[in-house]
Amino acid sequence: MIVVPGPASKELGIKIGTLLGARVVHVEFKHFPDGESYVRYIDDINWEDVVIVQTTSPPQDTRLVQLLLLIDAAKDLGARSVTAIVPYFAYSRQDKRFRPGEAISLRTMIKLIEAAGADRFVTVDVHNPDALRYFKIPTANLSAMSLLAEYAKECGLEGAFSLAPDEHALPRAKIVESVLNGGCDWLPKERDSITGKITVVEKTFDVQGKDAVVVDDIISTGGTMIAATSILKKQNARRVAVMCAHALLMGGAKEKIIEAGADMVVGTDSVSSDVTTVSVAPIVADYLRKGF
Ligand code: R5P
Repeated sequence: MIVVPGPASKELGIKIGTLLGARVVHVEFKHFPDGESYVRYIDDINWEDVVIVQTTSPPQDTRLVQLLLLIDAAKDLGARSVTAIVPYFAYSRQDKRFRPGEAISLRTMIKLIEAAGADRFVTVDVHNPDALRYFKIPTANLSAMSLLAEYAKECGLEGAFSLAPDEHALPRAKIVESVLNGGCDWLPKERDSITGKITVVEKTFDVQGKDAVVVDDIISTGGTMIAATSILKKQNARRVAVMCAHALLMGGAKEKIIEAGADMVVGTDSVSSDVTTVSVAPIVADYLRKGF
């Protein structure tokens, strides 16, 4: 097996390769003057099991095209198999038609990845695991939640209350709860499909003077985490830690979440940012170790 770190996941790819003791193959990447992406395999990959690591956080369209080029070129150059490791899978939230006439963007991305020649697709904490059913090739959805929970424990948050900022995040909060053992609940949230504005129905939690951890798959604008943090602080929670697998942090989201009262914001190296604290490399390496 050889590991190819894509331009969006250089460090993570190297970490995964190192954990596996696999050969890490570097690829030449550049952009043409008009912005088009270029990739070139330098090493011979003929008859190799190629593992491509490329996250698709913003600029997601460019990173998706790079991923497609890497998959297609690997197959074309004789790779025996191609596994695409895409920790953050862009467009995964548009997994159905919310309004008449909309593109089901996730399904389009899946078609492209399969058409490029991927034999297997692996992601981390995808927004809706059920949406991976659109794939015909084998898939895996790994979870960073236990790693995040262990990190919270290291930070002295054992016994903290785990909060899911919406119903979909409840299974994730339950994983964190199983490590922190401080109780668990969720907030009813609705998002206006036109304006994107969220409305959260306030619930009362047993957090007076206690620590709390809010867990979600993604932080994008931070609106969801800000609403959850504000409610916990209003109910006199002591420390509030905000944790997610994919910290996109658009438009100063981190600062806004801290302003809302969070004491820490934690993300993984699925998306490199200044809140990247936990690495998903061990769970990906474990999966690959078992799968080959
Ligand atoms: C949506 O339901 C997701 O699970 C996240 O809660 C959402 O994408 C976060 O977005 P934002 O940070 O913009 O509220």
